[in-house]
Amino acid sequence: MYLLSVDVFARVLFSCIDFFWSDFISLPAAVRQPPTITKQSMKDHVVDPKETMVIECEAKGNPHPIFSWRRNGKYFNVARDSQASMRRRSGTLDIYARTNPEQYEAEYQCIASNEYGSAYSNKIRLQLYRPPVWPREVLEPVVISAGLPLVLSCDPPPGPLRPETYWMSSSFPTMRAVRQDRRVSMGVNGDLYFSNVLFNDSVADFCCNARFPFKNVIQQKMPVVVKVLPSEYESKCLPLIRSHTVAEAAPTWLSPTGSSSSTLVLLGEELLLECIAAGVPTPHITWTKDGEALVVTPRMKIKNFNKLIQIQKASFEDTGDYTCTATNRISYIEHTITVRVKAAPFWLEKPDNLILAPEESGRLVCRSDGAPRPTVSWFINGEPIETATPMPNRQVSGDMITFRSVTTENNAVYQCNASNEFGYLLANAFVNVLHATPRILWPRNEFVKVVEGSRTFLDCRYFGSPVPELRCCNHWRVGELMTL
Ligand SMILES: *[C@@H]1O[C@H](CO)[C@@H](O)[C@H](O)[C@H]1NC(C)=O
Ligand SMILES: *[C@@H]1O[C@H](CO)[C@@H](O)[C@H](O)[C@H]1NC(C)=O
Repeated sequence: MYLLSVDVFARVLFSCIDFFWSDFISLPAAVRQPPTITKQSMKDHVVDPKETMVIECEAKGNPHPIFSWRRNGKYFNVARDSQASMRRRSGTLDIYARTNPEQYEAEYQCIASNEYGSAYSNKIRLQLYRPPVWPREVLEPVVISAGLPLVLSCDPPPGPLRPETYWMSSSFPTMRAVRQDRRVSMGVNGDLYFSNVLFNDSVADFCCNARFPFKNVIQQKMPVVVKVLPSEYESKCLPLIRSHTVAEAAPTWLSPTGSSSSTLVLLGEELLLECIAAGVPTPHITWTKDGEALVVTPRMKIKNFNKLIQIQKASFEDTGDYTCTATNRISYIEHTITVRVKAAPFWLEKPDNLILAPEESGRLVCRSDGAPRPTVSWFINGEPIETATPMPNRQVSGDMITFRSVTTENNAVYQCNASNEFGYLLANAFVNVLHATPRILWPRNEFVKVVEGSRTFLDCRYFGSPVPELRCCNHWRVGELMTL
Protein backbone atom coordinates (compact mmCIF):
# COMPACT_ATOMS: atom_id res chain seq x y z
CA MET A 1 0.00 0.00 0.00
CA TYR A 2 1.19 3.47 -0.77
CA LEU A 3 0.39 6.56 1.08
CA LEU A 4 0.30 9.55 -1.12
CA SER A 5 1.82 12.80 -0.23
CA VAL A 6 -0.15 15.35 -2.02
CA ASP A 7 0.78 18.98 -2.26
CA VAL A 8 -2.64 20.29 -2.58
CA PHE A 9 -3.86 23.31 -0.75
CA ALA A 10 -7.40 24.26 -1.02
CA ARG A 11 -8.40 27.27 0.85
CA VAL A 12 -12.06 27.60 1.11
CA LEU A 13 -13.08 31.16 1.29
CA PHE A 14 -16.68 30.86 2.11
CA SER A 15 -18.77 28.39 3.92
CA CYS A 16 -21.75 26.54 2.48
CA ILE A 17 -19.92 25.19 -0.53
CA ASP A 18 -20.19 21.68 -1.89
CA PHE A 19 -17.01 20.03 -2.96
CA PHE A 20 -16.87 17.01 -5.19
CA TRP A 21 -13.66 15.25 -5.88
CA SER A 22 -13.51 12.98 -8.83
CA ASP A 23 -10.48 10.79 -8.88
CA PHE A 24 -9.27 8.79 -11.81
CA ILE A 25 -6.22 6.93 -12.76
CA SER A 26 -4.69 7.96 -16.05
CA LEU A 27 -1.66 6.64 -17.82
CA PRO A 28 0.85 9.43 -18.50
CA ALA A 29 2.32 9.45 -22.00
CA ALA A 30 5.82 9.29 -20.49
CA VAL A 31 5.16 5.78 -19.18
CA ARG A 32 6.14 3.00 -21.56
CA GLN A 33 3.02 1.39 -22.97
CA PRO A 34 1.68 -0.68 -25.86
CA PRO A 35 -0.02 1.14 -28.77
CA THR A 36 -3.58 2.43 -28.70
CA ILE A 37 -5.39 3.34 -31.92
CA THR A 38 -6.76 6.84 -31.53
CA LYS A 39 -8.26 7.50 -34.96
CA GLN A 40 -9.32 5.40 -37.93
CA SER A 41 -11.50 5.75 -41.02
CA MET A 42 -15.02 4.32 -41.05
CA LYS A 43 -15.56 0.65 -41.83
CA ASP A 44 -17.23 1.70 -45.08
CA HIS A 45 -15.13 4.44 -46.54
CA VAL A 46 -16.21 6.11 -49.77
CA VAL A 47 -13.63 8.28 -51.51
CA ASP A 48 -13.35 10.29 -54.70
CA PRO A 49 -10.64 8.71 -56.88
CA LYS A 50 -10.00 12.06 -58.57
CA GLU A 51 -8.65 13.45 -55.32
CA THR A 52 -6.12 12.18 -52.82
CA MET A 53 -7.74 9.19 -51.15
CA VAL A 54 -7.04 9.31 -47.43
CA ILE A 55 -7.29 6.30 -45.12
CA GLU A 56 -6.81 7.38 -41.56
CA CYS A 57 -4.97 5.57 -38.83
CA GLU A 58 -3.42 7.26 -35.82
CA ALA A 59 -2.10 5.67 -32.66
CA LYS A 60 -0.25 6.55 -29.51
CA GLY A 61 2.14 4.49 -27.45
CA ASN A 62 5.53 4.68 -25.83
CA PRO A 63 7.81 4.14 -27.70
CA HIS A 64 5.83 5.77 -30.51
CA PRO A 65 4.30 2.99 -32.64
CA ILE A 66 5.39 2.09 -36.12
CA PHE A 67 2.64 1.45 -38.64
CA SER A 68 1.97 -1.13 -41.30
CA TRP A 69 -1.00 -2.01 -43.46
CA ARG A 70 -2.77 -5.07 -44.73
CA ARG A 71 -4.76 -5.01 -47.92
CA ASN A 72 -7.29 -7.81 -48.45
CA GLY A 73 -5.54 -9.73 -45.67
CA LYS A 74 -2.03 -9.48 -47.15
CA TYR A 75 0.86 -7.20 -46.24
CA PHE A 76 0.59 -3.96 -48.22
CA ASN A 77 4.04 -2.66 -49.02
CA VAL A 78 3.35 1.08 -49.02
CA ALA A 79 6.99 2.00 -49.63
CA ARG A 80 6.97 0.04 -52.90
CA ASP A 81 3.82 1.74 -54.18
CA SER A 82 4.62 4.97 -55.99
CA GLN A 83 1.04 6.24 -55.70
CA ALA A 84 0.70 5.70 -51.96
CA SER A 85 2.50 7.18 -48.99
CA MET A 86 2.23 7.06 -45.23
CA ARG A 87 2.30 10.25 -43.18
CA ARG A 88 5.13 10.82 -40.74
CA ARG A 89 4.64 9.45 -37.21
CA SER A 90 1.20 8.24 -38.28
CA GLY A 91 -0.28 5.40 -40.25
CA THR A 92 -2.54 7.58 -42.35
CA LEU A 93 -2.32 6.67 -46.02
CA ASP A 94 -2.47 9.19 -48.83
CA ILE A 95 -3.20 7.57 -52.15
CA TYR A 96 -3.17 9.60 -55.29
CA ALA A 97 -4.05 7.28 -58.13
CA ARG A 98 -3.05 8.71 -61.50
CA THR A 99 -3.58 5.30 -63.08
CA ASN A 100 -6.21 2.64 -62.44
CA PRO A 101 -7.64 3.72 -59.10
CA GLU A 102 -9.77 0.53 -59.12
CA GLN A 103 -6.78 -1.45 -57.82
CA TYR A 104 -7.19 0.39 -54.50
CA GLU A 105 -10.76 -0.70 -54.03
CA ALA A 106 -10.05 -3.19 -51.23
CA GLU A 107 -10.23 -3.89 -47.52
CA TYR A 108 -7.51 -2.21 -45.46
CA GLN A 109 -6.36 -2.81 -41.93
CA CYS A 110 -3.81 -0.76 -40.06
CA ILE A 111 -1.43 -2.21 -37.46
CA ALA A 112 0.34 -0.02 -34.92
CA SER A 113 3.22 -1.78 -33.14
CA ASN A 114 5.92 -1.16 -30.62
CA GLU A 115 8.00 -3.52 -28.51
CA TYR A 116 5.05 -4.05 -26.12
CA GLY A 117 2.48 -5.15 -28.66
CA SER A 118 0.40 -4.50 -31.78
CA ALA A 119 -2.98 -2.79 -32.02
CA TYR A 120 -5.27 -3.44 -34.99
CA SER A 121 -7.74 -1.11 -36.65
CA ASN A 122 -11.09 -2.19 -38.05
CA LYS A 123 -11.15 -3.50 -41.58
CA ILE A 124 -11.76 -0.43 -43.68
CA ARG A 125 -13.53 -1.15 -46.95
CA LEU A 126 -12.46 1.48 -49.45
CA GLN A 127 -15.03 2.16 -52.14
CA LEU A 128 -14.50 4.53 -55.02
CA TYR A 129 -17.14 7.05 -55.72
CA ARG A 130 -18.13 7.01 -59.38
CA PRO A 131 -20.43 9.71 -60.63
CA PRO A 132 -23.62 7.77 -61.27
CA VAL A 133 -25.15 8.29 -64.68
CA TRP A 134 -28.34 7.04 -66.16
CA PRO A 135 -27.98 5.47 -69.57
CA ARG A 136 -28.86 8.02 -72.22
CA GLU A 137 -31.71 5.90 -73.54
CA VAL A 138 -34.70 7.44 -75.25
CA LEU A 139 -37.78 6.29 -73.44
CA GLU A 140 -40.77 5.31 -75.51
CA PRO A 141 -43.92 7.25 -74.70
CA VAL A 142 -46.29 5.35 -72.46
CA VAL A 143 -49.70 5.00 -74.06
CA ILE A 144 -52.37 3.87 -71.63
CA SER A 145 -56.13 3.90 -71.20
CA ALA A 146 -57.63 6.07 -68.51
CA GLY A 147 -58.45 4.20 -65.30
CA LEU A 148 -55.60 1.71 -65.59
CA PRO A 149 -52.74 1.67 -63.09
CA LEU A 150 -49.28 2.80 -64.11
CA VAL A 151 -45.79 2.48 -62.63
CA LEU A 152 -42.99 4.67 -63.97
CA SER A 153 -39.65 3.24 -62.96
CA CYS A 154 -36.81 5.35 -61.67
CA ASP A 155 -33.98 2.78 -61.18
CA PRO A 156 -31.25 5.19 -60.13
CA PRO A 157 -27.79 4.00 -61.15
CA PRO A 158 -26.24 1.79 -58.48
CA GLY A 159 -23.51 3.12 -56.27
CA PRO A 160 -22.17 2.90 -52.75
CA LEU A 161 -24.66 5.45 -51.47
CA ARG A 162 -28.39 5.46 -52.06
CA PRO A 163 -29.64 8.65 -53.63
CA GLU A 164 -32.69 10.62 -52.65
CA THR A 165 -35.14 10.56 -55.56
CA TYR A 166 -37.98 12.81 -56.62
CA TRP A 167 -40.18 13.22 -59.67
CA MET A 168 -40.66 16.31 -61.78
CA SER A 169 -43.17 16.82 -64.49
CA SER A 170 -42.97 19.35 -67.22
CA SER A 171 -45.79 20.77 -69.15
CA PHE A 172 -44.44 23.53 -71.28
CA PRO A 173 -43.10 25.97 -70.17
CA THR A 174 -42.90 24.99 -66.54
CA MET A 175 -41.27 22.19 -64.65
CA ARG A 176 -42.52 21.25 -61.24
CA ALA A 177 -42.53 18.52 -58.65
CA VAL A 178 -45.18 15.88 -59.24
CA ARG A 179 -47.94 16.41 -56.72
CA GLN A 180 -48.26 13.46 -54.41
CA ASP A 181 -51.69 12.38 -53.31
CA ARG A 182 -53.71 9.29 -52.55
CA ARG A 183 -53.73 8.37 -56.23
CA VAL A 184 -50.22 9.26 -57.37
CA SER A 185 -47.10 8.89 -55.23
CA MET A 186 -43.50 7.87 -55.24
CA GLY A 187 -42.61 4.55 -53.62
CA VAL A 188 -39.64 3.79 -51.42
CA ASN A 189 -37.75 2.43 -54.43
CA GLY A 190 -38.16 5.72 -56.28
CA ASP A 191 -40.78 4.50 -58.76
CA LEU A 192 -43.83 6.64 -59.40
CA TYR A 193 -47.10 4.79 -58.81
CA PHE A 194 -50.46 5.79 -60.28
CA SER A 195 -53.32 3.85 -58.69
CA ASN A 196 -55.19 4.79 -61.88
CA VAL A 197 -54.38 7.28 -64.59
CA LEU A 198 -56.62 10.18 -65.38
CA PHE A 199 -57.05 11.88 -68.67
CA ASN A 200 -55.24 14.97 -67.50
CA ASP A 201 -52.06 13.01 -66.52
CA SER A 202 -51.36 13.26 -70.27
CA VAL A 203 -50.37 16.86 -70.17
CA ALA A 204 -46.92 16.18 -68.85
CA ASP A 205 -43.78 14.26 -69.33
CA PHE A 206 -42.33 12.79 -66.18
CA CYS A 207 -38.75 12.58 -65.13
CA CYS A 208 -37.02 11.07 -62.15
CA ASN A 209 -34.24 12.99 -60.42
CA ALA A 210 -31.73 11.67 -57.96
CA ARG A 211 -29.66 13.62 -55.49
CA PHE A 212 -26.57 11.67 -54.50
CA PRO A 213 -25.40 12.34 -50.96
CA PHE A 214 -21.69 12.33 -51.86
CA LYS A 215 -20.93 15.80 -53.24
CA ASN A 216 -24.65 16.49 -53.68
CA VAL A 217 -24.74 15.71 -57.38
CA ILE A 218 -28.15 15.78 -59.00
CA GLN A 219 -28.74 13.46 -61.92
CA GLN A 220 -31.77 13.43 -64.16
CA LYS A 221 -33.23 10.48 -65.95
CA MET A 222 -34.50 10.91 -69.52
CA PRO A 223 -38.10 12.07 -69.35
CA VAL A 224 -40.97 9.78 -70.31
CA VAL A 225 -44.09 11.03 -72.02
CA VAL A 226 -47.40 9.66 -70.79
CA LYS A 227 -50.33 9.65 -73.19
CA VAL A 228 -53.68 8.71 -71.72
CA LEU A 229 -56.33 7.42 -74.09
CA PRO A 230 -59.97 7.65 -73.24
CA SER A 231 -61.00 4.37 -71.63
CA GLU A 232 -63.17 1.98 -73.61
CA TYR A 233 -65.96 2.80 -71.24
CA GLU A 234 -65.40 6.48 -71.90
CA SER A 235 -65.33 6.13 -75.69
CA LYS A 236 -68.51 4.04 -75.66
CA CYS A 237 -70.41 6.27 -73.32
CA LEU A 238 -68.92 9.66 -74.15
CA PRO A 239 -71.59 10.58 -76.65
CA LEU A 240 -74.17 9.91 -73.97
CA ILE A 241 -72.58 11.14 -70.77
CA ARG A 242 -70.13 13.95 -71.36
CA SER A 243 -67.73 13.32 -68.51
CA HIS A 244 -64.33 11.75 -68.03
CA THR A 245 -65.58 8.92 -65.88
CA VAL A 246 -63.79 5.61 -65.95
CA ALA A 247 -64.98 2.11 -65.14
CA GLU A 248 -64.70 1.12 -61.51
CA ALA A 249 -62.10 -1.54 -60.69
CA ALA A 250 -61.39 -3.66 -57.62
CA PRO A 251 -58.12 -3.04 -55.75
CA THR A 252 -55.01 -4.95 -56.82
CA TRP A 253 -51.49 -4.62 -55.37
CA LEU A 254 -48.83 -2.63 -57.16
CA SER A 255 -46.27 -2.94 -54.37
CA PRO A 256 -45.64 -5.36 -52.80
CA THR A 257 -47.41 -8.02 -54.85
CA GLY A 258 -49.16 -11.16 -53.63
CA SER A 259 -50.66 -11.61 -50.19
CA SER A 260 -47.55 -11.82 -48.04
CA SER A 261 -43.93 -10.78 -47.88
CA SER A 262 -41.24 -10.43 -45.26
CA THR A 263 -38.75 -7.80 -44.23
CA LEU A 264 -35.63 -8.00 -42.16
CA VAL A 265 -34.42 -4.90 -40.40
CA LEU A 266 -31.42 -4.33 -38.16
CA LEU A 267 -31.85 -2.84 -34.73
CA GLY A 268 -31.51 0.93 -34.89
CA GLU A 269 -31.93 1.10 -38.64
CA GLU A 270 -34.83 2.49 -40.59
CA LEU A 271 -37.87 0.29 -41.11
CA LEU A 272 -40.14 1.17 -44.02
CA LEU A 273 -43.37 -0.70 -44.68
CA GLU A 274 -45.16 0.20 -47.85
CA CYS A 275 -48.39 -0.87 -49.53
CA ILE A 276 -49.54 0.70 -52.79
CA ALA A 277 -52.67 -0.49 -54.56
CA ALA A 278 -54.33 0.09 -57.92
CA GLY A 279 -58.08 0.48 -58.35
CA VAL A 280 -60.92 2.82 -59.28
CA PRO A 281 -61.89 4.69 -57.16
CA THR A 282 -58.43 4.96 -55.63
CA PRO A 283 -58.27 2.45 -52.77
CA HIS A 284 -57.78 3.56 -49.22
CA ILE A 285 -55.01 1.90 -47.18
CA THR A 286 -55.37 0.87 -43.53
CA TRP A 287 -52.99 -1.06 -41.28
CA THR A 288 -53.16 -3.58 -38.47
CA LYS A 289 -50.39 -5.22 -36.50
CA ASP A 290 -50.68 -8.82 -35.32
CA GLY A 291 -54.41 -8.69 -36.00
CA GLU A 292 -55.08 -5.60 -33.91
CA ALA A 293 -55.44 -1.95 -34.73
CA LEU A 294 -52.01 -0.42 -35.27
CA VAL A 295 -50.88 1.60 -32.28
CA VAL A 296 -49.07 4.60 -33.69
CA THR A 297 -46.18 5.19 -31.29
CA PRO A 298 -44.12 8.39 -31.27
CA ARG A 299 -41.29 6.47 -32.96
CA MET A 300 -43.58 5.76 -35.91
CA LYS A 301 -44.69 8.01 -38.73
CA ILE A 302 -47.51 7.27 -41.13
CA LYS A 303 -46.64 8.86 -44.43
CA ASN A 304 -47.59 9.04 -48.03
CA PHE A 305 -51.38 9.03 -47.51
CA ASN A 306 -51.30 5.91 -45.31
CA LYS A 307 -49.26 4.01 -47.85
CA LEU A 308 -46.07 4.07 -45.81
CA ILE A 309 -45.08 3.35 -42.22
CA GLN A 310 -41.71 4.77 -41.27
CA ILE A 311 -39.87 3.78 -38.12
CA GLN A 312 -36.60 5.64 -38.04
CA LYS A 313 -34.88 3.37 -35.52
CA ALA A 314 -36.23 -0.14 -35.41
CA SER A 315 -36.35 -1.90 -32.06
CA PHE A 316 -37.15 -5.48 -31.15
CA GLU A 317 -40.77 -4.70 -30.34
CA ASP A 318 -41.34 -3.77 -33.98
CA THR A 319 -41.26 -7.51 -34.78
CA GLY A 320 -44.62 -8.79 -35.98
CA ASP A 321 -47.10 -9.20 -38.80
CA TYR A 322 -48.23 -5.96 -40.34
CA THR A 323 -51.30 -6.25 -42.54
CA CYS A 324 -52.30 -3.55 -44.93
CA THR A 325 -55.76 -3.48 -46.46
CA ALA A 326 -56.67 -1.65 -49.64
CA THR A 327 -60.36 -0.86 -49.83
CA ASN A 328 -62.60 0.83 -52.35
CA ARG A 329 -66.30 0.69 -53.19
CA ILE A 330 -65.92 -2.60 -55.07
CA SER A 331 -63.93 -4.73 -52.62
CA TYR A 332 -60.78 -5.02 -50.55
CA ILE A 333 -57.50 -6.93 -50.55
CA GLU A 334 -54.95 -7.66 -47.85
CA HIS A 335 -51.20 -8.09 -47.70
CA THR A 336 -49.20 -9.18 -44.65
CA ILE A 337 -45.60 -8.11 -44.15
CA THR A 338 -43.73 -10.17 -41.56
CA VAL A 339 -41.09 -8.04 -39.89
CA ARG A 340 -38.08 -9.63 -38.22
CA VAL A 341 -35.63 -7.51 -36.26
CA LYS A 342 -32.01 -8.63 -36.04
CA ALA A 343 -29.05 -6.80 -34.59
CA ALA A 344 -25.43 -6.32 -35.50
CA PRO A 345 -23.27 -6.74 -32.37
CA PHE A 346 -23.35 -3.88 -29.87
CA TRP A 347 -21.33 -3.33 -26.70
CA LEU A 348 -22.41 -4.16 -23.22
CA GLU A 349 -18.89 -3.84 -21.84
CA LYS A 350 -15.83 -2.91 -23.82
CA PRO A 351 -12.49 -4.18 -22.52
CA ASP A 352 -10.38 -1.62 -20.62
CA ASN A 353 -6.61 -1.45 -20.65
CA LEU A 354 -5.08 -3.32 -17.74
CA ILE A 355 -2.20 -1.70 -15.94
CA LEU A 356 -0.90 -4.13 -13.37
CA ALA A 357 2.07 -4.46 -11.10
CA PRO A 358 3.99 -7.75 -11.19
CA GLU A 359 2.14 -10.52 -9.35
CA GLU A 360 -1.23 -8.76 -9.52
CA SER A 361 -4.25 -10.32 -11.19
CA GLY A 362 -6.82 -8.87 -13.57
CA ARG A 363 -9.18 -9.59 -16.41
CA LEU A 364 -10.27 -8.33 -19.78
CA VAL A 365 -14.00 -8.43 -20.48
CA CYS A 366 -15.52 -8.15 -23.94
CA ARG A 367 -19.25 -8.30 -23.43
CA SER A 368 -21.57 -7.71 -26.35
CA ASP A 369 -24.98 -8.66 -27.54
CA GLY A 370 -26.79 -8.88 -30.85
CA ALA A 371 -29.31 -11.04 -32.69
CA PRO A 372 -28.15 -13.67 -33.26
CA ARG A 373 -25.85 -13.55 -30.21
CA PRO A 374 -22.31 -12.67 -31.34
CA THR A 375 -19.44 -15.07 -31.05
CA VAL A 376 -16.31 -13.68 -29.45
CA SER A 377 -12.81 -14.47 -30.59
CA TRP A 378 -9.61 -13.27 -28.95
CA PHE A 379 -6.28 -12.33 -30.46
CA ILE A 380 -2.91 -11.44 -28.97
CA ASN A 381 -1.10 -8.80 -31.02
CA GLY A 382 -3.34 -9.89 -33.92
CA GLU A 383 -2.63 -13.62 -33.60
CA PRO A 384 -5.53 -15.93 -32.70
CA ILE A 385 -5.22 -16.81 -29.03
CA GLU A 386 -5.61 -20.51 -29.83
CA THR A 387 -2.35 -20.55 -31.75
CA ALA A 388 -0.44 -18.15 -29.48
CA THR A 389 2.16 -19.53 -27.06
CA PRO A 390 0.11 -20.86 -24.14
CA MET A 391 0.63 -19.26 -20.75
CA PRO A 392 -0.45 -21.02 -17.59
CA ASN A 393 -1.45 -17.77 -15.88
CA ARG A 394 -3.80 -16.73 -18.69
CA GLN A 395 -7.22 -18.30 -19.05
CA VAL A 396 -9.80 -17.61 -21.73
CA SER A 397 -13.45 -18.33 -21.01
CA GLY A 398 -15.81 -16.96 -23.63
CA ASP A 399 -15.92 -13.19 -23.40
CA MET A 400 -13.34 -12.96 -20.60
CA ILE A 401 -9.59 -13.45 -20.21
CA THR A 402 -8.31 -13.86 -16.66
CA PHE A 403 -4.69 -13.21 -15.70
CA ARG A 404 -3.23 -14.47 -12.44
CA SER A 405 0.01 -13.09 -10.95
CA VAL A 406 1.11 -11.39 -14.09
CA THR A 407 4.62 -10.93 -15.36
CA THR A 408 5.90 -8.70 -18.13
CA GLU A 409 5.50 -11.76 -20.38
CA ASN A 410 1.80 -10.93 -20.39
CA ASN A 411 2.41 -7.50 -21.93
CA ALA A 412 0.53 -7.36 -25.23
CA VAL A 413 -2.38 -5.79 -27.02
CA TYR A 414 -5.34 -8.14 -26.90
CA GLN A 415 -8.07 -7.90 -29.51
CA CYS A 416 -11.57 -9.20 -29.19
CA ASN A 417 -13.83 -9.53 -32.19
CA ALA A 418 -17.52 -9.96 -31.43
CA SER A 419 -19.27 -10.88 -34.65
CA ASN A 420 -22.44 -12.23 -36.12
CA GLU A 421 -23.69 -12.37 -39.70
CA PHE A 422 -24.61 -8.67 -39.58
CA GLY A 423 -21.30 -7.20 -38.51
CA TYR A 424 -18.52 -7.15 -35.98
CA LEU A 425 -17.03 -5.07 -33.22
CA LEU A 426 -13.30 -5.03 -32.71
CA ALA A 427 -11.75 -3.77 -29.49
CA ASN A 428 -8.11 -3.47 -28.53
CA ALA A 429 -7.05 -3.46 -24.89
CA PHE A 430 -3.55 -3.82 -23.61
CA VAL A 431 -2.01 -5.46 -20.62
CA ASN A 432 0.85 -3.38 -19.31
CA VAL A 433 2.72 -4.91 -16.42
CA LEU A 434 4.89 -2.32 -14.77
CA HIS A 435 6.04 -0.99 -11.48
CA ALA A 436 5.62 2.73 -11.18
CA THR A 437 5.83 4.90 -8.11
CA PRO A 438 2.61 6.71 -7.46
CA ARG A 439 2.39 10.28 -8.57
CA ILE A 440 -0.19 12.97 -8.75
CA LEU A 441 -0.53 14.36 -12.24
CA TRP A 442 -2.99 17.05 -11.41
CA PRO A 443 -3.53 19.23 -9.42
CA ARG A 444 -0.19 20.34 -8.03
CA ASN A 445 0.00 23.10 -5.48
CA GLU A 446 -3.31 24.38 -6.55
CA PHE A 447 -4.96 27.25 -4.90
CA VAL A 448 -8.61 26.68 -5.54
CA LYS A 449 -10.91 29.64 -5.61
CA VAL A 450 -14.55 28.92 -5.43
CA VAL A 451 -17.72 30.89 -5.60
CA GLU A 452 -19.92 31.00 -2.61
CA GLY A 453 -22.90 28.74 -2.86
CA SER A 454 -21.76 26.95 -6.01
CA ARG A 455 -20.86 23.34 -6.49
CA THR A 456 -17.25 22.70 -7.29
CA PHE A 457 -15.74 19.69 -8.94
CA LEU A 458 -12.08 18.99 -8.48
CA ASP A 459 -10.23 16.45 -10.58
CA CYS A 460 -7.55 14.41 -9.02
CA ARG A 461 -5.49 12.64 -11.65
CA TYR A 462 -2.93 10.22 -10.44
CA PHE A 463 -0.96 7.29 -11.61
CA GLY A 464 0.92 4.43 -10.10
CA SER A 465 1.25 0.71 -10.44
CA PRO A 466 -0.04 -1.01 -8.40
CA VAL A 467 -2.98 1.38 -8.30
CA PRO A 468 -2.26 3.66 -5.37
CA GLU A 469 -4.71 4.09 -2.61
CA LEU A 470 -6.01 7.60 -2.71
CA ARG A 471 -6.23 9.40 0.58
CA CYS A 472 -6.52 12.94 -0.50
CA CYS A 473 -9.87 13.41 -1.96
CA ASN A 474 -12.51 12.22 0.35
CA HIS A 475 -14.10 13.79 3.39
CA TRP A 476 -12.84 17.27 2.88
CA ARG A 477 -14.74 19.65 4.97
CA VAL A 478 -15.66 23.05 3.90
CA GLY A 479 -13.78 25.75 5.71
CA GLU A 480 -10.75 23.61 6.35
CA LEU A 481 -7.27 24.38 5.19
CA MET A 482 -5.85 21.18 3.96
CA THR A 483 -2.35 19.94 3.68
CA LEU A 484 -2.09 16.22 3.59
C1 LIG B 1 -14.18 -10.18 -37.06
O1 LIG B 1 -14.72 -11.44 -37.29
C2 LIG B 1 -15.58 -11.53 -38.43
C3 LIG B 1 -16.13 -12.94 -38.48
O2 LIG B 1 -15.12 -13.88 -38.48
C4 LIG B 1 -14.80 -11.18 -39.68
O3 LIG B 1 -15.64 -11.21 -40.80
C5 LIG B 1 -14.22 -9.78 -39.53
O4 LIG B 1 -13.43 -9.46 -40.63
C6 LIG B 1 -13.36 -9.72 -38.26
N1 LIG B 1 -12.91 -8.33 -38.09
C7 LIG B 1 -11.64 -8.01 -37.95
C8 LIG B 1 -11.32 -6.56 -37.83
O5 LIG B 1 -10.76 -8.83 -37.93
C1 LIG C 1 -56.74 16.12 -63.01
O1 LIG C 1 -58.08 15.81 -62.70
C2 LIG C 1 -58.33 15.47 -61.34
C3 LIG C 1 -59.76 14.98 -61.22
O2 LIG C 1 -60.60 15.65 -62.13
C4 LIG C 1 -58.02 16.69 -60.47
O3 LIG C 1 -58.26 16.38 -59.12
C5 LIG C 1 -56.59 17.07 -60.69
O4 LIG C 1 -56.29 18.24 -59.95
C6 LIG C 1 -56.29 17.30 -62.15
N1 LIG C 1 -54.84 17.46 -62.29
C7 LIG C 1 -54.31 18.43 -63.01
C8 LIG C 1 -52.83 18.43 -63.07
O5 LIG C 1 -54.97 19.27 -63.59
